[in-house]
Amino acid sequence: MTTILSTESLSKHYYHRDGLIEALSNVSVSIPEGSFVTITGPSGSGKTTLLMALSGLIRPTSGKIYFKGQELDTDSDKVLVDFRKKHTGFIMQNFSLIPYMTAMQNVLLPLSLNGLSAEKQKQRADELLELAGLANRKNHFPRELSAGQQQRVAIARALANKPAIIFADEPTGNLDPLLSVEILNLLKDINDKNRITIFMVTHSPLANQYGKVKIHLKEGRLMDHQ
Ligand SMILES: Nc1ncnc2c1ncn2[C@@H]1O[C@H](COP(=O)(O)OP(=O)(O)O)[C@@H](O)[C@H]1O
Ligand SMILES: [Mg+2]
Repeated sequence: MTTILSTESLSKHYYHRDGLIEALSNVSVSIPEGSFVTITGPSGSGKTTLLMALSGLIRPTSGKIYFKGQELDTDSDKVLVDFRKKHTGFIMQNFSLIPYMTAMQNVLLPLSLNGLSAEKQKQRADELLELAGLANRKNHFPRELSAGQQQRVAIARALANKPAIIFADEPTGNLDPLLSVEILNLLKDINDKNRITIFMVTHSPLANQYGKVKIHLKEGRLMDHQ
């Protein structure tokens, strides 16, 4: 099986005025393509930091990241931006939709940056919103949608550029259990049908059950990786 993402001794230190924080220490993982990965651990254990380092949103202090066997030059902003744009989608707990844009416009935003014709962009946004179960909510603004629907828009948007990997930071953290299951099943579908690798940070034991590969962190260190 192909390894999509792997790390060697990945560390991230923050130099805070109150002292050095070792948010991640020597994390080495190897993730097969198409995995559904869950990342758990107590608050402050480095889950978000790991997600941001793996997705090229922050630069590690030391260690290496490989995407499909190729080392990412994490010193280069251009390499990190390209990696994020071409290969990754990101979903946050608070949905992070643009409030004055409709569901359709939110999904069109990343599509407008990739050189497709206007017609193709619209067609792809339609497909994505339908896949996310929002066929009849395309022209709604975020405030006109339920929390679960807003997260569906965020998922549709994350899929826009056909990423190889989706990173989700507590995507069900603001949802009640019923809506959480709907969102988790949508992510599972995307993982099964499109073979998109998913990394999902979660506090919830229910959400953790969706993981085929489980990463558990404690004080920035890897406890479990199976
Ligand atoms: N930008 C930052 N500057 C300084 N310290 C940070 C920063 N981001 C996170 N930290 C610290 O790094 C540790 C790990 O944080 P985080 O990755 O957000 O944990 P988790 O997502 O597991 O709750 C925490 O001790 C946190 O306070
Ligand atoms: Mg976090």
